[in-house]
Amino acid sequence: MKKTLVAAAAISLSTFALSSCGSSSGADSGSDSNDGTITMGFAQVGAESGWRTANTKSIQDTAKAEGVDLKFTDAQGKQENQIQAIRSYIQQKVDVIAFSPVVETGFDAVLQEAKAANIPVILTDRAVDADPSLYKTFLGSDFVVEGEKAGDWLVENAKDADVDGDGTVNVVQLEGTTGAAPAIDRAEGFAEKIKADDSIEITASQTGDFTRDGGKQVMESFLQSDDSIDVVFAHNDDMGLGAIEAIEAAGLEPGKDIKIITIDAVKDGMQALADGKINYIVECNPLLGPQLMDLAKKVLDGEEVPARVLTDETAFTQEDAKAALPDRQY
Ligand code: AHR
Repeated sequence: MKKTLVAAAAISLSTFALSSCGSSSGADSGSDSNDGTITMGFAQVGAESGWRTANTKSIQDTAKAEGVDLKFTDAQGKQENQIQAIRSYIQQKVDVIAFSPVVETGFDAVLQEAKAANIPVILTDRAVDADPSLYKTFLGSDFVVEGEKAGDWLVENAKDADVDGDGTVNVVQLEGTTGAAPAIDRAEGFAEKIKADDSIEITASQTGDFTRDGGKQVMESFLQSDDSIDVVFAHNDDMGLGAIEAIEAAGLEPGKDIKIITIDAVKDGMQALADGKINYIVECNPLLGPQLMDLAKKVLDGEEVPARVLTDETAFTQEDAKAALPDRQY
């Protein structure tokens, strides 16, 4: 197994958050471990949603439990921060770099630099649009399938979703971060499936950046310009929860006057589903820590790993949510 070397340069990363847990003293000093400890640099998207918080916890907890020296960076939703963090991990000569790309494009140069430095890269959660030889594997959900599940549910429940009974199901879409894989793929999967029913139409679509505030603000503006909204399709629970606030503030009942479909299935979302304010949630599993550490060990041991590792996921109705809530981990 590859060992960690001492980083030559002290790297200043004052513009965004960086921390280290495990055996070494911190990112600035690099690791001086020569005992077989794996040092992983992880460049996280940020803390934009409940899903992301659960994902970060899973990675940090698993690293700690398995004795992996984790250098963790929160890029605060900015691609330039993430690229800067990856460059710092290359300079520190970590054993392996993992990251969840903020957006799909623009990582080619830094991935080339990692490859030239002989540091393997593992993508988690989100894909990049780059030469696949620049990374070892991609661990995460199939976002197109998630969008398809949401679309299938709407097609099956179209009659019920036509709340005003005018023969048209008017859908507004709260998109994730523009250019991010889950925003692109969920929109694609959903659009493909709703083609099966001509009465379903997406009347407006705008980014809420995967945040609760973003979802609330966009929903407020949708409600001001359109009084015939039947359905909200939110690309994550947080934006759906923001939309609920906007719908209630407008004097309407979420889940009844306007149906809501979301993706993630974090506890707050599941509670709103059980309470009848959301109608359907497609699960996106954030607990990627164990699989990530396992893949990292295999890659560093020179074992072959699959190019794509999918996570197991399901979907929840309101009744399912009531049953699942007591055991929900996140
Ligand atoms: O990439 C996964 C997505 O990112 C989650 O669905 C969303 O909540 C998060 O911000």
